[in-house]
Amino acid sequence: MGVDNEQVTNENSNYHTSGDAWTPSTWRAKKIKQNVSYEDQEHLQRVTEKLNNVPPLVTPAEINKLRHQLEQVALNKAFLLQGGDCAELFDYCSQEPIESKLKVFLQMSLVIIWGSRIPVVRIARMCGQYAKPRSNEMEMYEGKEIHAFRGEIINGYEPTDRKPDPDRLLGAYFHSAATLNYVRSIIGSGFADLHNPDEWSLHHVRSKGTRQEYQTIVDRLTDTLNFMKTIGADVPFSPLTNSLNSVDLFMSHEGLILDYEQCLTRLLKDPETQSLKWYNVGAHFLWVGDRTRSIDEAHIEYFRGIRNPIGIKVGPSMQPDELKKLLNIVNPDKEIGKVTLITRFGCDNVEKFLPGHIKAVKESGHVVVWTCDPMHGNTKTTSSGVKTRHFNSIIEELSKVIHTHKNNESQLNGVHFELTGEGVTECIGGSMELSDVDLEQNYRTYCDPRLNYEQSLDVAFLIAKYCEKERNESLPAL
Ligand code: PEP
Ligand code: CO
Repeated sequence: MGVDNEQVTNENSNYHTSGDAWTPSTWRAKKIKQNVSYEDQEHLQRVTEKLNNVPPLVTPAEINKLRHQLEQVALNKAFLLQGGDCAELFDYCSQEPIESKLKVFLQMSLVIIWGSRIPVVRIARMCGQYAKPRSNEMEMYEGKEIHAFRGEIINGYEPTDRKPDPDRLLGAYFHSAATLNYVRSIIGSGFADLHNPDEWSLHHVRSKGTRQEYQTIVDRLTDTLNFMKTIGADVPFSPLTNSLNSVDLFMSHEGLILDYEQCLTRLLKDPETQSLKWYNVGAHFLWVGDRTRSIDEAHIEYFRGIRNPIGIKVGPSMQPDELKKLLNIVNPDKEIGKVTLITRFGCDNVEKFLPGHIKAVKESGHVVVWTCDPMHGNTKTTSSGVKTRHFNSIIEELSKVIHTHKNNESQLNGVHFELTGEGVTECIGGSMELSDVDLEQNYRTYCDPRLNYEQSLDVAFLIAKYCEKERNESLPAL
């Protein structure tokens, strides 16, 4: 239940404090990176007044549920799968792209559960992933300097539509709402029913091996479910899934545009403690990017005040001491699993940086969720100038991260991918063996290259096989 809206609106828009006191707007007093300058401030104000009053997209109860699930992940009792587009477009708010993304995500999680025999927590980069940090604010187009494309929450991709437009903040909210509404509807109507996993057909998977591997899992699962039904044990089977008929799926995006995030931050009753807490009700989980995570700056100031579980991207420039300070700022109570550290070093940098970060976290006394984003450190440009990623580099980073954790008495708890459910040709390699020259066939991303449907399943099988091997090795010999 919400508190007095009047009070919240006033706090959201006017209240600034110094020292340690926090409100959704204290970030405004700090230096900010990746800021957006809107020409018409009155227009911006009209939009934020509207956004201050739109209904929540997610509830404190759901956010708390994810907090508890991530605690289990941090304690190595569950595994985190996070993924989706680099940049969502407003046009992806449409039946087919939503269904295909959900399908690949659910299939990947099923494969990983099968291999690891632990629950998988699913967080999609979806229903709000509309903002992109850019290295340069401006770029050249036909001899003229124009704003770079910064995601549809800010401006359009067309060179003539690059001026930041406040109405796009509203566009982001309403497209998130419509996408989430359809996700909730299809999950509620049995789309994720584990009794029919073979209805998520693999028709456009080219590799026979992948199709067969998936079919084997589905057949064995169906057999097990039939057996359970026969003996009357067809009941909820995991603390992380509501029932066999449905799944939990949480939504996330990079918390980059603080004008937007502030409006969606509401003082609401925590259903567990009955006390009032600041929840970001625009997503279950938000992360801060590698470019905006400076300790004394606006984004970290914003992130330290919200009750949601949060992610921090950790790239090569993160200093171990800085990491310790950062954890103490955003999670002073050392809540287990509150913070997910998403490492993204590049496959050649893992051994150089990860051990120092693991050591720092151990010394800090924080228990975090460690996940690996093997995408953002492995972006390359082909000789013809196309931005791509090699499947092998992605797997190499993932494998090095798993082993480096192991060698440093730590454990990888999850993975973070840029992927799509469609048959795009943006990353090179995988079981369908895409090469440089194939990229032009269906290169559709407006930002970073994503794993396609088949490459996403490939990764899931590799993870599942690794987990299965680990499980078998930890079994006592007969
Ligand atoms: C992203 O996840 O899309 C991104 C921009 O990542 P990073 O902040 O790690 O560069
Ligand atoms: Co990206």
